[in-house]
Amino acid sequence: MTIHFIGAGPGAPDLITLRGRDLIAASPVCLYAGSLIPKMMLDWCPPGARVVDTAPLALDAIIAEMEAADLAGQDVARLHSGDLSIWSACGEQMRRLDRLGIPYTVTPGVPAFAAAAAVLKRELTLPGVAQSLVLTRTSGRASAMPSREKLATFAASGATLAIHLSIHVIEQVVAELTPFYGQDCPVAVVFRATWPDETVLQGRLADIAAKVRASALERTALILVGPALAADDFGESALYSIDYDRRFRPRGGE
Ligand SMILES: C[S@@+](CC[C@H](N)C(=O)[O-])C[C@H]1O[C@@H](n2cnc3c(N)ncnc32)[C@H](O)[C@@H]1O
Repeated sequence: MTIHFIGAGPGAPDLITLRGRDLIAASPVCLYAGSLIPKMMLDWCPPGARVVDTAPLALDAIIAEMEAADLAGQDVARLHSGDLSIWSACGEQMRRLDRLGIPYTVTPGVPAFAAAAAVLKRELTLPGVAQSLVLTRTSGRASAMPSREKLATFAASGATLAIHLSIHVIEQVVAELTPFYGQDCPVAVVFRATWPDETVLQGRLADIAAKVRASALERTALILVGPALAADDFGESALYSIDYDRRFRPRGGE
C-alpha cells in the first residue's frame, strides 16, 4: 500500500503526467484538493473508488483517510494542483506519514507559472534581460511571509517575478514593485491558465491594477512582472551560436 502524491497540473486535464494519470487509474482511493483539480481527472479513478474532496477537511481528517486506506491495504492517489514542490501543503502530510511509517511517492506536475508562461508564449529568462525567476507570494491568512522574504528584496534584483496567491492585493504589489521596476515595467496577469475560462490581462505597473479591478476577476491568478515579459531586443543565447564550442557540436565540425 502506498500514498501517491501527484501534481495534477494547472487545470487542463491533459497536462497531468502519464505517470500521474496511471496512478489515479490504479488507486482505489482518490483524495483531491478541491476546485483546482479538474473533475475529468476523477473519471480516471477505477470503478467503485472512494473519491474525497479534501477542501473542507482538516489535516487530521485527511491523514485519517490515508490511515484507513493503509489498514485496508489500498493505494491512494493524492491530487494537488500544479506541482507539489510549491504551496501544496504536502510537506505537512508527508511529515505525518513519515511518523506513521506509511510509504508514499511523489509525482511532479506542471506548475502554474510554467502554464502561464506558455499561455503568454514567453520565455521568462532572456539573455541580458533576466536570468532568474522568483516564485513568491504575499502574506495570506493561512501563511505569513518570513520577515526577510519581502517583495522589495526580490524586486531589487530585477529578476522576473511570478507572484502567486496575491491578485486580491494587486495595488499593494504594484506599490511595492514600482520603485524598483518603474511604472513602465510590463506585467501579465493570467487567470486560470489552461482552464476553459482562462483570461489574460497585460499592461504595465502603471495600469495593471485598474485592469484587474475592471475585469472583476478575483481568483486563481498569477502575476508575472519583469522586463522579460515584453523584451524584444534581447541577445541570442550563446548556446546555439555557431561560434560556441560545445561537446556535441565542436567548433569547425559538423
Ligand atoms: C495554493 S497555490 C498552488 C500552486 C501550485 N502548487 C503550482 O505548482 O502552481 C495556488 C495559486 O497558484 C496560482 N495558480 C494555480 N493554478 C493556476 C492557474 N491555472 N492559473 C493561474 N494561476 C494559478 C494562483 O496564484 C493560485 O492562487
